[in-house]
Amino acid sequence: MQLQVLNSPFNQEQAELLNRILPTLTESQKVWLSGFLAAAQFSSVSGPGNVQTAELPSGNTAQAISKDVTILFGSQTGNAQGLAKTAAKKLEENGFQVTIQSMSDFKPNNLKKIHNLLIVTSTHGEGTPPDNALSFHEYLHGKRAPKLDELRFSVLALGDSSYEFFCQTGKDLDTRLGELGGTRLYPRFDCDLDYDEPASEWLSGVLSSLNEAGGGTHVSEEAPSSQIGDAVYSRTNPFKAEVLENINLNGRGSNKETRHLELSLEGSGLTFEPGDSLGIYPENDPALVQLLLDEMNWDPEQIVTVNKKGDVLPLKDALVSHYEITTLTKPLLEKAALLSGSEKLQELVSAGNEDQLKGYLDGRDLLDLLRDFTPWIGSVQEIVSILRKMPSRLYSISSSLTANPDEVHLTIGAVRFNAHGRERKGVCSIQAAERLQPGDTVSIYIQHNDNFKLPNNPETPIIMVGPGTGAAPFRSFMQEREETCAKGKTWMFFGDQHFVTDFLYQTEWQKWLNNGVLTKMDVAFSRDTAEKVYVQHRMIEQSKELFEWLQAGAHLYICGDEKHMAHDVHHTLIKIIEKEGGLSREQAEEYLAEMQQQKRYQRDVY
Ligand SMILES: Cc1cc2nc3c(=O)[nH]c(=O)nc-3n(C[C@H](O)[C@H](O)[C@H](O)COP(=O)(O)OP(=O)(O)OC[C@H]3O[C@@H](n4cnc5c(N)ncnc54)[C@H](O)[C@@H]3O)c2cc1C
Ligand SMILES: NC(=O)c1ccc[n+]([C@@H]2O[C@H](COP(=O)([O-])OP(=O)(O)OC[C@H]3O[C@@H](n4cnc5c(N)ncnc54)[C@H](OP(=O)(O)O)[C@@H]3O)[C@@H](O)[C@H]2O)c1
Ligand SMILES: Cc1cc2nc3c(=O)[nH]c(=O)nc-3n(C[C@H](O)[C@H](O)[C@H](O)COP(=O)(O)O)c2cc1C
Repeated sequence: MQLQVLNSPFNQEQAELLNRILPTLTESQKVWLSGFLAAAQFSSVSGPGNVQTAELPSGNTAQAISKDVTILFGSQTGNAQGLAKTAAKKLEENGFQVTIQSMSDFKPNNLKKIHNLLIVTSTHGEGTPPDNALSFHEYLHGKRAPKLDELRFSVLALGDSSYEFFCQTGKDLDTRLGELGGTRLYPRFDCDLDYDEPASEWLSGVLSSLNEAGGGTHVSEEAPSSQIGDAVYSRTNPFKAEVLENINLNGRGSNKETRHLELSLEGSGLTFEPGDSLGIYPENDPALVQLLLDEMNWDPEQIVTVNKKGDVLPLKDALVSHYEITTLTKPLLEKAALLSGSEKLQELVSAGNEDQLKGYLDGRDLLDLLRDFTPWIGSVQEIVSILRKMPSRLYSISSSLTANPDEVHLTIGAVRFNAHGRERKGVCSIQAAERLQPGDTVSIYIQHNDNFKLPNNPETPIIMVGPGTGAAPFRSFMQEREETCAKGKTWMFFGDQHFVTDFLYQTEWQKWLNNGVLTKMDVAFSRDTAEKVYVQHRMIEQSKELFEWLQAGAHLYICGDEKHMAHDVHHTLIKIIEKEGGLSREQAEEYLAEMQQQKRYQRDVY
């Protein structure tokens, strides 16, 4: 991992000093330094209940140090949850008693009783907490947050450095726990999309700190609280799935292209439930890679080293399958500035130019960067080494395994747009739209998602709001309810641009309406009328009945666009609850928050 101090509590001079020394440190020097700083932090804290240093008599240490560790996770799509489970398993193997919980299941009043707390959280929206971290985040930042002088904690933050508010939730919680009096038992780690290595480094550091403080004394006989990685194939060892079917769901003349993809899971041992997602490791467009090679006059066959393990690939293959070449991030530009002789680039990344930098990053890719900031003084190897590893893309699974054994179906909207005078293509969706044929294979894994699940009781009514590709998981829900002969009522809100060309899976919804698997369906075709009609307008038209369903215990699900649709539907729901329940705005918000707490309001948004 290339260490760089970016958004930090240090002033510019300190940050520059750190950035000069950090890249020169060996791995063992880094480990020593982190242990040294953590220990220094312990020893600077005094008072009852605080962590004792190694110099204290062992009798005192045994009394003061708790072997109980609480791990709280905030996770929308399962990454932080998976890492929290890994951490729990490792700590238990090292003799700690671990309680692991989603932040939404945790009773914040118990915070004061905890001595060792690990937080693993992602960030969503535009720097906002994942749904199951919202209430905890709000509680900690509110007036009722307690003093936490006896708490030792550490935060593992997940994020994506292409977002402006990188790892914001982790940063917020870390800062706030500190403000409330907690002591960091190990520094916060902010992880980008390729989080495995830093997360494992964080966990080792946390474990050493806990052990140094005398926590881990015996190896627990207990079974791990969570089973992880049972499947042979996983995110870090993806399965090559064969494409069985790939069709365009939109009719001729549509503005959109939505691919229905069927993949074979035969021989993989992979299983999933409705509500889970599928991860795909896509490949870059070979035509774009060729443009890059031509632009830089690079030899496509030159061998480059692509990771710390020393794996090598011919440059062209590395650019097609290993590296991300279509998204620029701030850390990438900062590293690129060290390899370019361009003064313009040095200026762009210098302090005070954040707005210009943000503007530059928007809609541009590696080809723009290499064209815009010549001359390049770094070697090919140096330049590719600053690129991020190709991140996987998640897709809400649109089939049920019960209905289609050994298969998984996806509903993928093609992303095409124009920016800075060039047509841009979404890496994965356009690979699916333009290059994947039946018989080809793609690298995939299953991302289980506990936060988007059908009710346990098949009689519980469900309301599904899924415009566009947001319909995907609801097709899976319906297939499952049909196969299992579930009796609960079901209500679908679907929307897209035009009835004639964009009614995704129209015949299937009609079949389910006819055979009673689907109780009600409301559709909103936004561009068939002079005034736009969206799903939330249909919800308002049916507000009385919708509220009756909620009162009868219905679960409500939203899937699809996060930025606009999910936000607007959320506010519409509050209005409906306010009006039909005769409640104040605050009470209606509480009603929805309570539903969320009870897992009756779930979102799968992107
Ligand atoms: C849990 C989850 C479930 C998902 N389920 C589905 C699903 O069922 N179906 C589905 O289609 N997608 C789904 N997605 C989104 C999916 O993961 C990908 O993000 C999407 O397919 C785009 O990937 P891509 O590789 O084609 O595009 P990328 O190469 O990743 O490019 C997409 C990026 O391009 C930029 N962009 C897009 N349009 C514009 C524009 N007009 N102007 C400027 N910049 C633009 C944005 O930064 C956007 O993030 C899901 C995402 C998550 C997190
Ligand atoms: N962050 C990510 O990772 C990521 C990646 C790719 C896509 N996305 C998002 O995912 C969305 C999915 O695209 P899609 O093709 O499935 O469908 P979509 O663009 O969400 O469109 C589906 C329907 O929703 C309507 N709509 C637009 N704004 C709305 C609003 N505020 N409230 C309710 N409905 C609204 C659209 O109407 P109009 O089109 O007529 O306005 C259309 O009729 C895209 O919009 C994109 O923003 C996110
Ligand atoms: C819709 C959406 C919004 C996101 N917003 C942010 C963000 O504002 N800041 C950030 O650092 N990461 C952001 N991310 C990246 C996630 O934090 C990252 O993918 C993380 O690994 C997800 O972990 P989880 O599966 O535990 O939720 C976003 C991801 C998605 C899908």
